[in-house]
Amino acid sequence: MSHISRRKFIKFTALLGTGIPVLSHLKLFSKTVSPLTESSIPVVIATWDRDRKPNLKAWEILEKGGNSLDAVEQGVRVAEDDPENNSVGYGGLPDENGIVTLDASIMDWRGRAGAVAYLQNIRNPISVARLVMEKTKHVMLAGEGAKKFALAYGFKEENLLTEKSREAWIKWKEGLSKEDNWIGSDSHDTITMLAIDKYGNISGACTTSGLRWKIHGRVGDSPIIGAGLYVDNEVGAAGATGVGETIMRVLGSFLIVEKMRDGYSPQEACEYAVRRLIEKNKNIVKEKFQAAFIALNKKGEIGAYSVREGFDYVLSRNGKTEGFKSKYELKD
Ligand code: GLY
Repeated sequence: MSHISRRKFIKFTALLGTGIPVLSHLKLFSKTVSPLTESSIPVVIATWDRDRKPNLKAWEILEKGGNSLDAVEQGVRVAEDDPENNSVGYGGLPDENGIVTLDASIMDWRGRAGAVAYLQNIRNPISVARLVMEKTKHVMLAGEGAKKFALAYGFKEENLLTEKSREAWIKWKEGLSKEDNWIGSDSHDTITMLAIDKYGNISGACTTSGLRWKIHGRVGDSPIIGAGLYVDNEVGAAGATGVGETIMRVLGSFLIVEKMRDGYSPQEACEYAVRRLIEKNKNIVKEKFQAAFIALNKKGEIGAYSVREGFDYVLSRNGKTEGFKSKYELKD
């Protein structure tokens, strides 16, 4: 394959392979007018309108009077279990060596946090992260240690690489040339979910298979508390999706919660964080990466903002679950 056609090919497979919801948008009809000024509780908000089942699961729990921690854990597990979602859990696209490695984090209203990084062969990293939070004095376990910990709690070891993901990886490998630098991937669709329950308690969860074809060993923003996710029950919560390196450089979720503490609305805080992220990633802005934040405050107000067009989110409130297109900063 020539250099030029290989590039086109990668662009094409990138759209197919990442689960970036190009077709889902058309099917689900995300609304363009978003309810950024409404406030009521309970609320669930999650990144990407590719599938509303994770929100529906979380809402079902909240509606029955369940708490926000159970809601976000069970909600994002739906995405982890879905083989068609190739950026999370089972069926996630692998790294450069064809190995699926998973990152996840969870926080609750008590200020507790748990995370796993570089976890392999365990389908539900979010539940392992919850166990780290609840059963240990630690915040994060990584790699082999995280897997052993999960196995000790009865998790099953399984192959997470579906045939579809394996084929996508093989095609990417076939297109590699010796002349290429390793520049990695440029987009991603991690699921991050934030919820406030009827008791006014906030929790958040974030789970991902990370960037497709990443260098073996790479860990993104999702398990880093304050980068991919942050919750402070006095104020609110924020979470991220997109190219993790850009998010880690500004600790975006923590930044948003701190801006809300200073009086910003969730929307203003998300916009502030996206602008900071662009400023601090100036050298790579031309690479057309995507990064986005969602946020939620104690009143149940929400915010969402992305670097570029194309980000959408799912909101559950007053018994309705709907998708919305996010506003964005760079009009390119
Ligand atoms: N936001 C997911 C990642 O970069 O790994």
